[in-house]
Amino acid sequence: MIRPVFGILVFLAIFHFPAIESQSQRNLVTSKIEFSALRCRKHSAILTDFGAVGDGKTSNTKAFKKAISKLSQMATDGGGAQLVVPPGKWLTGSFNLTSHFTLFIQQGATILASQDESEWPVIAPLPSYGKGRDGTGAGRFNSLISGSNLTDVVITGNNGTINGQGQYWWDKFKKKQFKLTRPYLIELLFSKNIQISNITLIDSPSWNIHPVYCKNVIIKSVTVLAPVTVPNTDGINPDSCANTLIEDCYIVSGDDCIAVKSGWDQYGIKFGMPTKQLSIRRLTCISPKSAGVALGSEMSGGIKDVRIEEVTLTNTESAIRIKTAAGRGGYVKNIFARRITMKTMKYVFWMSGDYNQHPDEGYDPKAFPEVTNINYRDMKAENVTMSGSLDGIDKDPFKGICISNVTIALADNAKKVQWNCTNVAGVTSRVKPEPCSLLPEKKAPMKNDEDCVFPSDLIPIESVVLKKCFV
Ligand SMILES: *[C@@H]1O[C@H](CO)[C@@H](O)[C@H](O)[C@H]1NC(C)=O
Ligand SMILES: *[C@@H]1O[C@H](CO)[C@@H](O)[C@H](O)[C@H]1NC(C)=O
Ligand SMILES: *[C@@H]1O[C@H](CO)[C@@H](O)[C@H](O)[C@H]1NC(C)=O
Ligand SMILES: *[C@@H]1O[C@H](CO)[C@@H](O)[C@H](O)[C@H]1NC(C)=O
Ligand SMILES: *[C@@H]1O[C@H](CO)[C@@H](O)[C@H](O)[C@H]1NC(C)=O
Ligand SMILES: *[C@@H]1O[C@H](CO)[C@@H](O)[C@H](O)[C@H]1NC(C)=O
Ligand SMILES: *[C@@H]1O[C@H](CO)[C@@H](O)[C@H](O)[C@H]1NC(C)=O
Repeated sequence: MIRPVFGILVFLAIFHFPAIESQSQRNLVTSKIEFSALRCRKHSAILTDFGAVGDGKTSNTKAFKKAISKLSQMATDGGGAQLVVPPGKWLTGSFNLTSHFTLFIQQGATILASQDESEWPVIAPLPSYGKGRDGTGAGRFNSLISGSNLTDVVITGNNGTINGQGQYWWDKFKKKQFKLTRPYLIELLFSKNIQISNITLIDSPSWNIHPVYCKNVIIKSVTVLAPVTVPNTDGINPDSCANTLIEDCYIVSGDDCIAVKSGWDQYGIKFGMPTKQLSIRRLTCISPKSAGVALGSEMSGGIKDVRIEEVTLTNTESAIRIKTAAGRGGYVKNIFARRITMKTMKYVFWMSGDYNQHPDEGYDPKAFPEVTNINYRDMKAENVTMSGSLDGIDKDPFKGICISNVTIALADNAKKVQWNCTNVAGVTSRVKPEPCSLLPEKKAPMKNDEDCVFPSDLIPIESVVLKKCFV
């Protein structure tokens, strides 16, 4: 009885795997692909060298792990290593990356996320959150592509795809059947010199890209597509990161296209790591239920020095939304935005000081967030329901708000009250319709283009030049 089975295995080993391998190697040899990266690599391998099967059904978790483990040994000579994912459908559970490493997802290749929970190791909650973000349970599923304490990591392609096959997770989440927090598609912790570019992410179980406690991060030319009806499918969430550039991204989401964070209440205050030096530019976003860019609600480690420019929003709930609450502590300050074009918006400006979701009863209700020096200019919006809903916190007003050169055209069903402001302070100039009395028209000196000035210097990551690399 054993012999025929063994015979089939030998047959598969000899004929099946090499056949796939040579086919995909031919793809590579005949078409050299050029791409841009922080670093090029000396060593290269293809996923099929490690027994992977691209039929969309066979689990390739072991192949990914074997490949990365092998390449991580090769990379130690200083040349780095890259793993090429060739055309095919590569089903896999969660796996971790390594340093001095490039994951290249070729056009026509899809990394398919497994719907088998045993393929997703459970890891500890983030120290700055204390809890899993989804549920009451402490743990969370490791993300599909993950890594901690890494340096020099590139995840790129010529528009290859990562498909989260989220339906399984969305259904179970809606039925409140998870004790653990759903996985994200890409999460890097405590890492530096990161590039994520030229890939498409589809149907994530939850958030899409989550760099946390990282520095020197470039996220560029990424497409994120999630059904607009599914909760928490945030596009990109820079969280307690320094020196981050997000540019040329196209995001459709059921939650915020970009959500800037830095930890949750007492856990985030204690951890104390801000998000700072962040530049977001040339973003296109559709998010009917959420914001183009959210600052918060978890901002307890602080958010500062953020620039947002050249953003196009369609059918989106609000442009930039500041979300916080008493208990968060921390700050949101030195925020600059300009050149935002909007169509079909519920709000243009939205600030909420009552975002009262807390990790547990241990938060300090007297830990007030500081929201100050918020600058918005050069914006145009059409088909808007309400221009501004700005709600600070009692005894903790949001200050230093500056809005200039903004023209808002209203929808047929627009609200009678266009601006509703409480506990905020600031000035405006050349804003239509006329803002609330808490944001009065700025008096002299009224030099037309000198209000709410966008910084002219760059953050360091904006000056980084990528190298030409090949697979
Ligand atoms: C994979 O990375 C996660 C964090 O990203 C970490 O918690 C986990 O221990 C790592 N697993 C392995 C096998 O290294
Ligand atoms: C990663 O780095 C952080 C911060 O330096 C440290 O606390 C943590 O122990 C490191 N984790 C690993 C797995 O080395
Ligand atoms: C990455 O995307 C940019 C912008 O869409 C494009 O110009 C560039 O050619 C792409 N690179 C690759 C390797 O596909
Ligand atoms: C990449 O693929 C996605 C999904 O197929 C598509 O919507 C997007 O336009 C493509 N991007 C580029 C730059 O080709
Ligand atoms: C204006 O917005 C409403 C939703 O508030 C939408 O139904 C309608 O299609 C939009 N009109 C145009 C011209 O985009
Ligand atoms: C006002 O904003 C528009 C974009 O909405 C821009 O084209 C124009 O240059 C701005 N005006 C000034 C004086 O900056
Ligand atoms: C204005 O905002 C306050 C505070 O959030 C709210 O209670 C009130 O109902 C709002 N008024 C209008 C007209 O929207």
